Amino acid sequence: MAINTRLTELLGIKYPIIQAPMNWISGADLVAAVSNAGGLGTLGPNAGQKVPSLDPVEVKRRLVAQVHKVRGLTDKPFAINITAATNPLYKPFADAFMETAVEEHVAAAIVIMGSPALYTAKLHDAGVKVLHCVTRPEQAIKAEKAGVDGIVTEGFEGGGHLGTEDLTTMTLVPQVAKAVNLPVIAGGGIADGRGLMEPSRSALRVSIWGHASWQHWKATLILNSRKRCSGLKVPVR
Ligand SMILES: Cc1cc2nc3c(=O)[nH]c(=O)nc-3n(C[C@H](O)[C@H](O)[C@H](O)COP(=O)(O)O)c2cc1C
Repeated sequence: MAINTRLTELLGIKYPIIQAPMNWISGADLVAAVSNAGGLGTLGPNAGQKVPSLDPVEVKRRLVAQVHKVRGLTDKPFAINITAATNPLYKPFADAFMETAVEEHVAAAIVIMGSPALYTAKLHDAGVKVLHCVTRPEQAIKAEKAGVDGIVTEGFEGGGHLGTEDLTTMTLVPQVAKAVNLPVIAGGGIADGRGLMEPSRSALRVSIWGHASWQHWKATLILNSRKRCSGLKVPVR
């Protein structure tokens, strides 16, 4: 039975579940399996690679090949991840991810870091839906103003969490859902059916993203980021 939400309508998927991008781990096979199962698979920046390339042209060539591989395995919608960092060293890679999404007309881009205004218009012109990742409600408001189609909230529990505050999924999601009118996707620490239900109870309009393995590594990452964040204040809103 399909579960219809604003997100499933937006993306043309059966269930409001997104497989979060995990750099090289989320390659074409995983992405196609998730999309075939009715969720939204997402290719990571180094999707399917064992040795990353430092050449943006080669990175793009590999990503395009992964997009074609997914298309050979499924006709369902899938996304690619755009790390939209603007520093001069990283920008050529960010451009390569954006150009791949545009030229290949993928269904959606999951954008992290940088300004949500940077690529949104170009992606929309190519018919690509834009989901922007945030770790604070203020970022969600900014992304909504920039015209994105949905907000991915990533709580402090998330593997490789990018934020500087330790706002947990259960505290962040309701704040973001209150702050914006867009579909909100909850991520961070969600790994099973029970976890899937909690954010939906605390805030309507919420969908799910995440990965359900790598538990040991994730615990290490969380421990490390807790150390990094100790002493910071949590904003109250
Ligand atoms: C091994 C690993 C690699 C990741 N790589 C990326 C990445 O390349 N891009 C990205 O946007 N998020 C990346 N993430 C974060 C995930 O997309 C997601 O936000 C997070 O895993 C969700 O929380 P969870 O780990 O509790 O499921 C990564 C996470 C892990 C565990």
